[in-house]
Amino acid sequence: TGLTALDYGFVNTAATKSRITYIDGDQGILRYRGYPIDQLASNSTYLEVAWLLIHGELPTADELADFDERVRRHTLLHEDLKHFFSALPHTAHPMSVLSSALSALSTYYENGLDPKDPEHVEMTTIRLLAKLPVIAAYAHKKSQGQAFLYPDNNLSFVDNFLRLNFGNMAEDYEVNPVLSKALERLLILHEDHEQNASTSTVRLVGSTGANLYASISAGINALSGPLHGGANEAVLEMLGQIQESGEGVRRFVERVKNKEDGVKLMGFGHRVYKNYDPRARIVKESANAVLDSLGISDPLLDVAQELEQIALEDDYFKERRLYPNVDFYTGVIYKAMGFPTRMFTVLFAIGRLPGWIAHWREMSLDPQTKIGRPQQLYIGEGERQYPQR
Ligand code: CMC
Repeated sequence: TGLTALDYGFVNTAATKSRITYIDGDQGILRYRGYPIDQLASNSTYLEVAWLLIHGELPTADELADFDERVRRHTLLHEDLKHFFSALPHTAHPMSVLSSALSALSTYYENGLDPKDPEHVEMTTIRLLAKLPVIAAYAHKKSQGQAFLYPDNNLSFVDNFLRLNFGNMAEDYEVNPVLSKALERLLILHEDHEQNASTSTVRLVGSTGANLYASISAGINALSGPLHGGANEAVLEMLGQIQESGEGVRRFVERVKNKEDGVKLMGFGHRVYKNYDPRARIVKESANAVLDSLGISDPLLDVAQELEQIALEDDYFKERRLYPNVDFYTGVIYKAMGFPTRMFTVLFAIGRLPGWIAHWREMSLDPQTKIGRPQQLYIGEGERQYPQR
């Protein structure tokens, strides 16, 4: 059949060339367009990094101001789209709300969806960056039974998002700069991670000629799984269960090692990082800073730290080179900020959006792009005759 290799999970197969993100999993290196992740996380902003990922260079001050202004100008959702939220139960998982709302959003811009028209692509980029956080905040508000706020475009991207989630109609919302800085940093850490499952999904869907909304909506669904972005939610559930059950961290780790009921240590392990995840280190520092500044002492942070320590000293984890990944401590921070557990993966999606867009745009401009179409090794029946009955 001309089939040359079978590669479950694409462990050994590159599907594309890319200039966006460099990872060295053995050394724990992550760079966006050549810039080390720790430098960006300390010094940059979400939108500046988004520009960098999409355009390949840091923006000039004027370019950034213009980009920021355009994103602010497009935060409003069409009033009719708000009815979409009324049709869903308040128990709806916000990730399902997010992916379906994005598909719905595309119906408002049907004359602006041509993947081959650079103006359409640019406009869609701005709309997605502006509106995804608003949709996310409305999914949150809906789950709480609270009224939606209009965006306040005098606020920065992150402050606006915090207000939409935690503000109310009755009083002014005061942004806590520590939370704002921590959230900006977490979003930057999530902005890209080369060909992970959701980004590969975005590229695969885009390779069919589908538009950016459709591709990103598919990426959000791919991200929702517990082995990918859904891990941050799963980590917090795991920590809560360990604490509530009273079984003790050591006993839980034994169950993981014995693969009892397929239980895994969520937030540990990575396909690429085999020494440490450079993002996890920064997240852990942020967790301590945020909790200290809010004066919160969350027992789940203690469970997480004990779990990490026991696992790092254990041969099972050492032999398999399993270390905390980005998702291990993020949940503790999001919880301290006041987000419900089910919003955690949504925050990951907002973080990852610029990466998805950058990859989609790189894919669609690459003359070598072909429709993605993996092969299979057929192991079913040979030809058989339909029985004469
Ligand atoms: N807990 C216990 N054992 C594990 C874990 C874990 N978290 N991760 C891997 N292993 C074991 C696995 O059972 C296997 O053992 P054995 O050789 O005895 O069969 C060995 O380590 C190799 O694992 P693998 O499943 O072949 O590794 P992979 O590269 O296919 O999977 C992973 C990577 C991230 C899906 C996996 O480590 C995992 O399921 N981790 C927990 C979920 C998680 O935290 N995901 C977030 C990843 S980072 C952010 C993101 O990408 O969204």
